[in-house]
Amino acid sequence: MNFKYGYPLNFKNWLDEHAHLLKPPVGNQQIWQDSDFMVTVVGGPNQRSDFHDDPVEEFFYQFKGNAQLLMWENGEYEQVHLKEGDIFLMSPHVLHSPQRPEPGSLCLVIERQRPAGAHDAFQWSCARCGHVLQRYELELKSIVKDLPPTYERFYNTSEAQRTCAKCGEVHPGRDFESWHATLNAAHPHL
Ligand SMILES: [Fe+2]
Repeated sequence: MNFKYGYPLNFKNWLDEHAHLLKPPVGNQQIWQDSDFMVTVVGGPNQRSDFHDDPVEEFFYQFKGNAQLLMWENGEYEQVHLKEGDIFLMSPHVLHSPQRPEPGSLCLVIERQRPAGAHDAFQWSCARCGHVLQRYELELKSIVKDLPPTYERFYNTSEAQRTCAKCGEVHPGRDFESWHATLNAAHPHL
């Protein structure tokens, strides 16, 4: 028969064939194209300071190494550990920032195509007090094509646009290490 997404493939072989893409600078690969389920494998190392507001559920299977999902809700931060072997189903609109510090770590992530009119958003917040600095909404068509311009839009903001209206802290933009250092100093429980 003619199966749109082909016959079963051996996951381990697929991983071996795509190993060079599952690390920087690419870091992730979608297994099947033009499917309702967007099945991707995400590798480390990769760290960031943006938070993703997804209008659909996300499924995670951290099958190699460990990672964390830094969550943001109403200005509060929480660190959720994705330990090797963990599975996690996240409901829509939970603002999350995946942190994958371990080289060679691998996570299976499944999302679905967004229903017409549903918007994703990317948000950057103050590492010290959690106040929202910038939030951009978009109709996400492609994870690969739509994200880089959104990050660049934030990185190209002025220092004034990255200054917290509540506490005066300046978001370091592209420098995620400095943002995390401030976050950890201000929130030792994370
Ligand atoms: Fe602040």
